[in-house]
Amino acid sequence: MGAVRYQRLYDAMCKPHLRGDQRPPPLLAALRIGAHQLFALDRIPVHAAISTGVGALGGRSAGLRGVVNAVLRRLSEIRLDERGLQPGPLGRIPEALWPIGLGERHSLPDALIRDLQDIAPGDEDAAFGALNLVPPLCTRLRPGAEIDHPAVIRRDGNFLWWRDPAAAIATAVRPGHAVVQDRAQASLLELADAKPGQLVLDCCAAPGGKSRYLSDLGCKVVAADLVPSKLGRLVQGLGERPRVACHDARRPCFMPGFDLVVVDAPCSNSGVVARRPEARWRYGAAGLSDLERLQTAILVAASRLVSRSGRLLYTTCSLSPRENTDRIAALPGWRVVSERLVWPDGWNGGGYGALLERTTS
Ligand SMILES: C[S@@+](CC[C@H](N)C(=O)[O-])C[C@H]1O[C@@H](n2cnc3c(N)ncnc32)[C@H](O)[C@@H]1O
Repeated sequence: MGAVRYQRLYDAMCKPHLRGDQRPPPLLAALRIGAHQLFALDRIPVHAAISTGVGALGGRSAGLRGVVNAVLRRLSEIRLDERGLQPGPLGRIPEALWPIGLGERHSLPDALIRDLQDIAPGDEDAAFGALNLVPPLCTRLRPGAEIDHPAVIRRDGNFLWWRDPAAAIATAVRPGHAVVQDRAQASLLELADAKPGQLVLDCCAAPGGKSRYLSDLGCKVVAADLVPSKLGRLVQGLGERPRVACHDARRPCFMPGFDLVVVDAPCSNSGVVARRPEARWRYGAAGLSDLERLQTAILVAASRLVSRSGRLLYTTCSLSPRENTDRIAALPGWRVVSERLVWPDGWNGGGYGALLERTTS
């Protein structure tokens, strides 16, 4: 995961030591694994990191093994003995040697940097560096449950962060006292201020985090998703009579009349690239335009299911305006009541939410 997350940084660090023709993918993969061990994993001795990098080539040619050995040795010469303030690999690389470009420095694609640069809060290095911080596991207590456990390192109301995910699963999740839920995503749902008894449609519901939260608040939740194999898990935690359906939210199978319709849209995951390191390398490819079309099509169809005085909640775990504010702007007849952009901060992943109501009733 780390070698995938930081691959652009590691490629930039290795590049000065490679000839132009020395870049076959297995070589780069082995260098990234070795570089990650050198710079990010503090308890691996240098000789073990180099030997793991060389070993990652398996039985490939002695020539390639020699290149990996030589390049990792060069990198080991600049590795700081004492970790600096920066988390991750930058904390072991002297600042004067950090790549100049933000994309290489924080191992993010230029397209993502470009799309986020105007909305990144505060210092750019801190903001883009935060995209690589993996938050500790967070759980939400079910109604009436209480937990006091030494592995809990932070608490915000019913939300608990855990030092040890295994302890969270064994003592809180499996016995049914809590569910795994990202605090940031829950805070986006809270924009809707859903009330007990309200009829809510969750259009893109699997695996069910938001549906379960709404159900725990006392709402009558209809949870629907495109993918049949996800419905089994979706049923869990939705009470004794779960209302679950399989549909394509672009052509939903429901009558209008919901107090609240939630569109937690499929997205690029650009706010949670720390946990899903491969997602960043898809950002900006042709797939993003397809996602934008899908998001708008789902929003338009979902908006038709809202009752006259009801509201529409749009959320993503992306930071990109292309998938957030631009999508809302492309929905005529609706206005934003409240919205929130959560930037990742080491405790939470990132995401966006907007609560909408009709401009005319
Ligand atoms: C961001 S996830 C939803 C997460 C969920 N709301 C939760 O809190 O656990 C997006 C979901 O949209 C579903 N999806 C993708 N395209 C869809 C479509 N056309 N209609 C309905 N659901 C769709 C995916 O299967 C995926 O489960």
